[in-house]
Amino acid sequence: MNRIVYVNGNYVAEQDAKISIFDRGFIFGDGVYEVVPVIRSKLVDRQYFIERLRRSLGELQIAWPCTEGEYIEVMQQLIVRNQLEEGMVYSQVTRGVADRNFNFPPATPTTLVAFTSKMSVLENPAADTGIKVTTFEDLRWKRRDIKSVNLLAQCLAKQDAISKGANESWMVEEGFVTEGSSSTAYIVSNGRVITKPLSNLILPGIRRRTLLEITEQAGIQVDERPFTIAEVLGADEAFVSSATTIVTGVISIDGNKIANGKPGPITMQLRNLYKSRMLREAK
Ligand code: PDD
Repeated sequence: MNRIVYVNGNYVAEQDAKISIFDRGFIFGDGVYEVVPVIRSKLVDRQYFIERLRRSLGELQIAWPCTEGEYIEVMQQLIVRNQLEEGMVYSQVTRGVADRNFNFPPATPTTLVAFTSKMSVLENPAADTGIKVTTFEDLRWKRRDIKSVNLLAQCLAKQDAISKGANESWMVEEGFVTEGSSSTAYIVSNGRVITKPLSNLILPGIRRRTLLEITEQAGIQVDERPFTIAEVLGADEAFVSSATTIVTGVISIDGNKIANGKPGPITMQLRNLYKSRMLREAK
């Protein structure tokens, strides 16, 4: 890879990008991040991601590294400098560099790093075949609504899924699915979409937010309530959403087929509606 990345005010070749070993993101995981999809060289769901970032930073009392306008400009510059047509921009803000003390250092400039990744968002073979999920105990802390860089529990969950030949892990707490290791989880029963309500126990997914608007416009009913593994096994459809998977059908859980083992019609309808919305925004 030969990308131009962004580090604290500078655009540099990725091999030249450096941050301090005393950066609190590195030492404590004291930082937040965002993943924004890119379609036709344009950022998608731009306003919603800025709102979520503002909230994550506010909850952790981390100062903005620059203005919101400058933040977007960094992302757009990276798209241009890397000639990115489709994929995503990753950005991360940490509390900055200070000697190792748990309490917040006073008046320390925050760190901002960002990079692009090329990938297929609109056309993804997994969207046609669907993906397999396994289940894993949700080992995370109680502020999952903050998009923090502390992702070890999710890494363990994802690795468990991959080691079992699946693609994603659905994390389970007290018998209910919370969310995927890097996605929001949904089932469809009797024509209704079911997904866990927002709280401190899940990340407020941007695709989730947009999908709730899309389902409303399409006249599809949504129940925001927790659901169990037994309900997943009896569901008509299941799917995940996230920045780069958009809407992708789930065809089995822990090796058990869901319905006929193919992405369902409501899943595919929502994916197509989401794609059209992205293309409209990317015009
Ligand atoms: N993760 N839940 C978790 C735990 C996630 O990590 C993600 C996304 C989502 C979906 O959020 P959104 O629709 O805003 O992408 C839900 C990403 C993409 C990642 O960390 O790479």
